[in-house]
Amino acid sequence: MAFFTHLVRRGFSSSTVRNVVIKHVTIIGGGQMGAGIAQVAAATGHTVTLVDTSDDLLKKAIKGIEGSLKRVVKKKFADKPEAGEEFLQKTLKNVSTSTDAAAAAHSTDLVLEAIIENLKIKQDMFSQLDKAAPEHTIFASNTSSLPITDIASSTNRLDRFGGLHFFNPVPVMKLVEVVATSSTSQETFDSLLNFSKELGKTPVSCKDTPGFIVNRLLVPYLAEAVRLHARGHGSKEDIDIAMKLGAGYPMGPFELADYVGLDTTKFILDGWTEKEPNNPLFAQIELLNKLVAEGKLGKKTGEGFYKYK
Ligand code: CAA
Ligand code: NAD
Repeated sequence: MAFFTHLVRRGFSSSTVRNVVIKHVTIIGGGQMGAGIAQVAAATGHTVTLVDTSDDLLKKAIKGIEGSLKRVVKKKFADKPEAGEEFLQKTLKNVSTSTDAAAAAHSTDLVLEAIIENLKIKQDMFSQLDKAAPEHTIFASNTSSLPITDIASSTNRLDRFGGLHFFNPVPVMKLVEVVATSSTSQETFDSLLNFSKELGKTPVSCKDTPGFIVNRLLVPYLAEAVRLHARGHGSKEDIDIAMKLGAGYPMGPFELADYVGLDTTKFILDGWTEKEPNNPLFAQIELLNKLVAEGKLGKKTGEGFYKYK
């Protein structure tokens, strides 16, 4: 309500900005997050175009979606294998792929970006898409840590730009952080909120602050665990066991950092260090930087703090 009042004061009204019903979604980036979001959007009846830089990466993304869908089907359609197969095929049919982001944005209700956590690269992407997408199209970023205001500044649709922050693994994690900047219209915010609900998620409203809610708490915790280990105050295995059995977390911090991606974890800290160089919570971590430099990015590359098959 306070947010709406704020918009009315700024001169927005329901007659000047429209609610967008999101039927078609263009997702830029078919990695862990983009593929997961594509899966849940398609499974809930939306048509999706998934964009990445090569056909090989897109094939890998579709294979991942199929594998994850099979896990969902096994559980949801345990007694009805035929209905499960039908759901699987229908969901896969809702997903098309492209290596041409601008062409994919030509006819879409929502562009949701899930590419590398780098401000300049995200801005360049959105600047290009702003010229290609229709007037009504809403833009959203799945950024973990970058200000939505900074990303949106590369476009001319500040009122139709927000944050939609999903969690990994997307098919399982129930939360979506919906982020409004001071320019996001109420209609855009409502459309993003409704879209999250249509995907079966629970949305929370967030201010455009570093890391929103979850990552502002979670990433410093992950970083502290690595520093604790680097000081020689605990093995990674013991720290993981301790946080699982002592704090009831489903994964220990090293398992989770590997799961998120050590590159993404590092990029989040890098961005925050740049903004707040004296904040010890965001300080650089030599061990993390070393693993990333060696290409050990976690589960997605087969090795991070741990090795994966
Ligand atoms: N697709 C579909 N289903 C999946 C899945 C996937 N990718 N991964 C797990 N599941 C399902 C399984 O089928 C299983 O279902 P049932 O229990 O009904 O059989 C269930 O999830 C549990 O999976 P597992 O038994 O394989 O393994 P688990 O019990 O260890 O759970 C986990 C796996 C859900 C990932 C759990 O370990 C967990 O919740 N970990 C923490 C994840 C977390 O904190 N994510 C947030 C990261 S931060 C972030 O995302 C924000 C950011 O910007 C960095
Ligand atoms: P990822 O490395 O798994 O995937 C990124 C994908 O984007 C890759 O497939 C890459 O080829 C593709 N890509 C890069 N540049 C592109 C371009 N110009 N055009 C099209 N595709 C391009 O990364 P991820 O873990 O999926 O993270 C993606 C975004 O989501 C990041 O902003 C990250 O901070 C955020 N995020 C990550 C997590 C997580 O747990 N990993 C959770 C929430 C949000």
